[in-house]
Amino acid sequence: MNLYDVYPLNDIEITKASGSNVWDANGQQYLDLYGGHAVISIGHTHPHYVQRLTEQLNKVGFYSNSIKIPLQVQLAEKLGQVSGKVDYQLFLCNSGAEANENALKLASFYNGRKKIIAFKGAFHGRTSLAVAATDNPKIVAPVNETENVIFLPHNDDQALVDAFTKQGNEIAAVILEGIQGVGGIREASKSFLQKIRSLCDEYNAVYIADSVQCGYGRTGLFYSHDWAGVSADIYTMAKGMGNGFPIAGISIAPKFKPWHGQLGTTFGGNHLACAAALAVLEVIEKDNLMKNAEEVGAYLIEELKKFEQVKEVRGRGLMIGIELPEALAHVKKDLLFKHFIFTGEAKPNVIRLLPALNLTKEHAEEFLKAFAELVK
Ligand SMILES: Cc1ncc(COP(=O)(O)O)c(C=O)c1O
Repeated sequence: MNLYDVYPLNDIEITKASGSNVWDANGQQYLDLYGGHAVISIGHTHPHYVQRLTEQLNKVGFYSNSIKIPLQVQLAEKLGQVSGKVDYQLFLCNSGAEANENALKLASFYNGRKKIIAFKGAFHGRTSLAVAATDNPKIVAPVNETENVIFLPHNDDQALVDAFTKQGNEIAAVILEGIQGVGGIREASKSFLQKIRSLCDEYNAVYIADSVQCGYGRTGLFYSHDWAGVSADIYTMAKGMGNGFPIAGISIAPKFKPWHGQLGTTFGGNHLACAAALAVLEVIEKDNLMKNAEEVGAYLIEELKKFEQVKEVRGRGLMIGIELPEALAHVKKDLLFKHFIFTGEAKPNVIRLLPALNLTKEHAEEFLKAFAELVK
């Protein structure tokens, strides 16, 4: 049997990982500024994480949501505290797409409506409604096409007002990333986020903050959307939540009332997943990682802005986009194969940095040195 070949692969096999470093099968060390796509939040093989998962695995790895799982309650308490949303409710699932799918479904259950507002450049996942709300027709299968999703230009306050004026009473939800990831590291403006909040309040629509990539402390705030000073009704999260163990969740405002069977999943919130997520939050809190992400990120952004060869530096904290001119399109590959530094990318020529939140200033300097050599 062959693998179903959907991923373009780099010819590298990672056999060891620690903190912000990984090693390939030949023993070559790499600096990891990609974190396996923003997933490694507290560093690879963090000792506390390994210990908590190992201990849990030796007790009980999995049982379904048909029994009490106190670890879920502990996770909800900790997440409420670290994210500052103590009165929100937690539903656990397994991936970012599933989190968004559940958030959209919950919004529709809540107000009985069908229309979703999403934005140009958005990525919300590959399942049915999540992919329909993703601005990439190439990955939307005919069966996922729907007239229920309305795409508006990103950061355009007036277009949003016009859409609500026209059909506000049909809008179930507005979904957006605090900083678009796949879309090239584009941050939603404060006024735009505030406008979404006020229009959702006025029309009883649900504001869904897709925090799958930009959340979990990456920007220095737990949820990057919150920099606008207003709260979303539902926050979706995944990637950094389990530091590599698949777990996702939605944080749901108190006004939503659950009923048995409304949402559900077999694997979501299992013992091992909860242990992983608790370990991550414990390390984020104990090691003050949100502050570190903010500070090391600000340093990187400041230094990167000094390169006149760079077209634009965007982002916040440790979610950074470096837009390069066509002539420097080779830099990403050269970082990996000449300087052994993993980074992410966005089309057409944006290097994405999504490292672990405990990236050190020395790591940042190592990257800047390599970057300077490649762009000179
Ligand atoms: C903003 C955002 N939302 C949702 C998703 C989907 O997450 P998953 O791949 O875990 O389904 C992603 C994945 O890249 C993402 O970046």
